[in-house]
Amino acid sequence: MVKKYRIGTPVNTEAVTESFDIEKTDSFPLSLEINENVILSFPLENDDMIFGLGENVRGINKRGWTYESWCSDETNHTEDKRALYGAHNFIVLSGKDKFGLFVDYPSKIEWDLGNTSPEMAAIKIFGKDLDLYFIDGESELDIVKQFRKIIGKSYIPPFWAFGYQQSCWGYAKQEDFVKVRENHKKNNLPLDCIYMDIDYMDSFKDFTVNKKLFPDFEAFVREMKENNIHLIPIIDAGVKKEKGYSVHDEGHENGYFCIDKDGREFECGVWPGIVGLPDFLNKDARRWFGSKYKELLDIGVDGFWNDMNEPALFYSKKGLEKAFKKLDDIRSREMDIWSFFGSKDAVLGIQNSMDDYKSFYHNIDGKKVCHKDVHNIYGAFMTKAAGEYFEEEYGREKKLIFSRASYIGAHRTSGIWFGDNFSWWSHILLNLKMLPSVNMCGFLYCGADIGGFNSHATRDLLLRWLALGVFTPLMRNHRALGTRAQEAYQFGDTRDFSDVLSVRYRLIPYIYETFRRCSDENDMMFKPLAFEYPDDKIAREVEDQLMLGNECMIAPVYEQNKSGRNVYLPEDMTFVKLSGENVYKEEMKKGLHYVEIALNEVPLFIKRGKNIPLAKPALNTAELDVEKLENLL
Ligand code: NOJ
Repeated sequence: MVKKYRIGTPVNTEAVTESFDIEKTDSFPLSLEINENVILSFPLENDDMIFGLGENVRGINKRGWTYESWCSDETNHTEDKRALYGAHNFIVLSGKDKFGLFVDYPSKIEWDLGNTSPEMAAIKIFGKDLDLYFIDGESELDIVKQFRKIIGKSYIPPFWAFGYQQSCWGYAKQEDFVKVRENHKKNNLPLDCIYMDIDYMDSFKDFTVNKKLFPDFEAFVREMKENNIHLIPIIDAGVKKEKGYSVHDEGHENGYFCIDKDGREFECGVWPGIVGLPDFLNKDARRWFGSKYKELLDIGVDGFWNDMNEPALFYSKKGLEKAFKKLDDIRSREMDIWSFFGSKDAVLGIQNSMDDYKSFYHNIDGKKVCHKDVHNIYGAFMTKAAGEYFEEEYGREKKLIFSRASYIGAHRTSGIWFGDNFSWWSHILLNLKMLPSVNMCGFLYCGADIGGFNSHATRDLLLRWLALGVFTPLMRNHRALGTRAQEAYQFGDTRDFSDVLSVRYRLIPYIYETFRRCSDENDMMFKPLAFEYPDDKIAREVEDQLMLGNECMIAPVYEQNKSGRNVYLPEDMTFVKLSGENVYKEEMKKGLHYVEIALNEVPLFIKRGKNIPLAKPALNTAELDVEKLENLL
């Protein structure tokens, strides 16, 4: 049963699609304090666990840390962080008492989940205009399903978007893309998509293509398509301010950019230099920006990834001036250690500063609203601009779209990726832990940068990461400019990579059908073991294995120099290792086991009485025979 409570006059975030009668706040089941801010609190029993908060750091069980809802351009996904790119304000308390809570509020929230006091959860909402949804249910999954029902069905991408995808910030000219395609083919490595990062644009201008790098872009796209490769360009939130650049000119003439307090276009710096920020919260601006994708779609690209839409601000003119003034000040005095650190902070503090987020405004249905108060829906509305336009113009499931920043609601029209992780072993595990949490919030099409975005990947790290990526709907290898090349053919002998990638294609029919069913039934594709085995104390605490669909459990290797791993079976299962066309099977009893897993093997556990289909390996989804399937067991 879902109940809705309203405080003040909230902004419509468009997260919830069902309508409700509004309950009186004095009947709200948790402690509720309403002052300048709103504070919700509830006691925590010893065995209570807290699930949710979507894309964030730390565990599947979120108890014991303070998290924030604040969409952040945060490249260091370390344990000391409180927020990443998404604001996913939904939690489920799991213990003797069970409930779900969704705080529908577009600005900052602090979730102290037993950190300050281990016996208490306190949620501070930095404002007093919001909707609260309280959900009672029989089980954790029942609560999640009720929540998912009120927020509407999850986005389903095109079938080919379940193929393997290669990306790199640094592929610039046409030949770079052809080389990636040919090297995959030559080495028997499957591939469906290649991503185009900012390098393809003319001076980092959205919806433009650099003519020197792509003299005949249309022919290039066509030729890639004939070879079964879908091209997916990036679009950034900021639009370069340049006279004669039609996107900026049009947006400016129509007043579609965010403004400062004096009504002038707000200016800040991102990749192209000074940009205007489209006001995605203004319905007309949103439609206008959505329609801009058409030109590239008409040329033949099949999807997009929206980036830098928290929005990421490298600097604002004001912020720069302030920092320079501080540096001048320091220069005029003798440098001591404090002024040294002061100068460092002055420079580093320019990026993504709260002062900047406070200094620009949106036009929401004619009302001027400060960005800080609606920060968490900005990126989501950018991606909804695209997703809604694609659905209207091309139909559902036809175009691929996913975003870096997100808020619940955007899950209906797009997916997300987990942003700038590192080539660290611990980030394989972090990738796994985020999957059930984002599924709880409706985001089903999702995945991390496989191999790691920052830092340098090793051969074994990439293979182990791919063996997890084989199960994630978005399976994309992506890295940053200047890091070690990490395409599957960059590490000598490619046979191990071909073995692992073939498993993905063998599993696509199962993964795709499971995905569709989870979207239709508001189910989670990945669940914590705690959701399925609530009375099994060991299973409840497992943080490095997940249930997949209704049939499987996954347990990837995520440490270096390991020839296997420990795994906990919450019931009797069949242990399976898939590698190329080989299938190894072993019956195993409930309990703790050590299993050996070679670098070219993908481990999987099948529940008793269940089975899954396997296709023959293929080099892309167009060649995948989805009719001729065999049973795994
Ligand atoms: C930041 C994104 O997170 C990353 O994936 C991308 O490669 C860079 N921006 C450059 O566009």
